[in-house]
Amino acid sequence: MSKVLITSALPYINGIPHLGHMVGCLLPSDVYARYMRMMDNDVLYIVGTDEHGTTSEVGALKAGLDVQEYCDMNHKRHYNTYKDFGLSFDCFGRTSSEQNKEMTYHIFEQLDKNGFIEERTMKQVYSIDDKMFLADRYITGTCPHCGYEKARGDQCENCTKVLEPTDLIDAGSTISGSKNLEVRETKHLFLNLPKIEPILQQWLKTKEAFWPEVAYSIAQKWLKEGLQARCITRDLKWGFPVNKEGFEDKVFYVWFDAPIGYIGITKQWADEKPDERNWKDWWYDVKDVRHIEFMAKDNVPYHSITFPATLLGTKEPWTQVDYLKGVSYLTFEGGKFSKSENRGVFAEDAIKEFEADYWRYWLMSNIPEGSDTSFTFDLFASVVNKDLNGVLGNFVSRVLKMTSSKIGDTVPEGGQLGELEQKLIENLQLSIKNYFKYMNELEFRKAFAELRAIWVEGNNYISEAEPWTVIKEDQAKAAMILRTCINLIRIFAILSAPIMPKTAEKMLAKLGLGVDDIPSLKDFDVKKEIEFIKAGQPFEVGDMLFERILPERVEELKTKYGSKK
Ligand code: 2FM
Ligand code: ZN
Repeated sequence: MSKVLITSALPYINGIPHLGHMVGCLLPSDVYARYMRMMDNDVLYIVGTDEHGTTSEVGALKAGLDVQEYCDMNHKRHYNTYKDFGLSFDCFGRTSSEQNKEMTYHIFEQLDKNGFIEERTMKQVYSIDDKMFLADRYITGTCPHCGYEKARGDQCENCTKVLEPTDLIDAGSTISGSKNLEVRETKHLFLNLPKIEPILQQWLKTKEAFWPEVAYSIAQKWLKEGLQARCITRDLKWGFPVNKEGFEDKVFYVWFDAPIGYIGITKQWADEKPDERNWKDWWYDVKDVRHIEFMAKDNVPYHSITFPATLLGTKEPWTQVDYLKGVSYLTFEGGKFSKSENRGVFAEDAIKEFEADYWRYWLMSNIPEGSDTSFTFDLFASVVNKDLNGVLGNFVSRVLKMTSSKIGDTVPEGGQLGELEQKLIENLQLSIKNYFKYMNELEFRKAFAELRAIWVEGNNYISEAEPWTVIKEDQAKAAMILRTCINLIRIFAILSAPIMPKTAEKMLAKLGLGVDDIPSLKDFDVKKEIEFIKAGQPFEVGDMLFERILPERVEELKTKYGSKK
């Protein structure tokens, strides 16, 4: 059994997850974790909320809550949403936990001891009324280049010129609107990336053959542009206070402790059952762990450069990323998702419209692996109606209804597999081999095209075998055909379980089986599985697996979620 450590980028606590977040890291990591478990691996799947930073302080301020209360409340909200989407994480933790604090302190101390931390004094804008230093994006004013009045402290949206906050004319805080600002000197700690670069370069070379091209090239691009020391502390209240003399009134920058959160959350998980679990078995001085990280492409530089460099700088044997799955963006009807403009489908609402598997299937079979992909309700309805309702749902209902009405409500007896069934087995063997190959390579679009092809095989088989005609002359042969089809329902359920776990459960329940009856995929043999369910086993026709989405509903959804403006 191999150990597979799977991490999803940790969503910001103040963000409301939309379909783009779901497909960017959460769903692919879950689908892969489920698949790897079914392949008999020892899987540890870690997710959680990224809780520090100015955005949390500002979010809490707007909500009129204390930051801790705000984070507690939102953590639950994220947890519930992801549970509703069927995420099968082993631990859903928090970057603000005591365990993460301990890890962050340790890693920082090692970096400092090894000479990779340096002090620098810098000038920053301080808001006297807000009683805080303002991050660049919380300062607006008039652009000195084009006169645009709402330019941000880091860039003018209008003329795209990069700015320093001190360039702005008549600058104000976006938090309180106050213009009572001044520039103050403040001391900060920097991670000296240029000094770590030689070890990082060496380490990266060992990854070239294994990382996907897109992740490797992003890392190389950053290196070519030259690494800069990164400021890892902030003048904020919310965060881990810096454990170094003279810096106790500062906190670590959110991006410093966020990826360490993967380790901190593993410790949270281990602390739940200290007799059975040890976080070190996954993270420290281990050779038998394969670590796969999932993230949207904007997170790739941090995970391919900054975080690995942080761990390398400790000179300790930490588990590093073995494969980094970077996902492009999902747009909503070609534009941005925006909560404030009421545009786009947010995960909490999605689940009220359709069960999770509708979304899981659409998103994962259309995952933006290459270029960005646009979600549209027209495409969504078309895929649900064609693939889920038409190909899979129809097959299940047609087989069970026909068997029930022509023979009875138990799996029919008689006949033996013939030539057509041998051909079916061969076709399935090939498609399943490809399906597993693409899943192993984390090529989800190709994998789910194969899965669909597997369902289509079932439809082709029943059309060719024509049990409704055969039954008039050869009862035993018709029984064998329908029994084979019932076995196909079980096979389809098993293979679909990583992407549509609830649907798989429903399909198995129709056949009197449960999720515990799902076999390992490791030595999955169609020849054996096609005759797994024997004659006499009761089944239930039950409801259709999926509803058809009618044009009126599509129009309603478009209006409700801002497709039409
Ligand atoms: O982009 C984001 O949502 C970040 N919160 C991801 C952090 S990933 C990891 F470092 F925690
Ligand atoms: Zn401008």
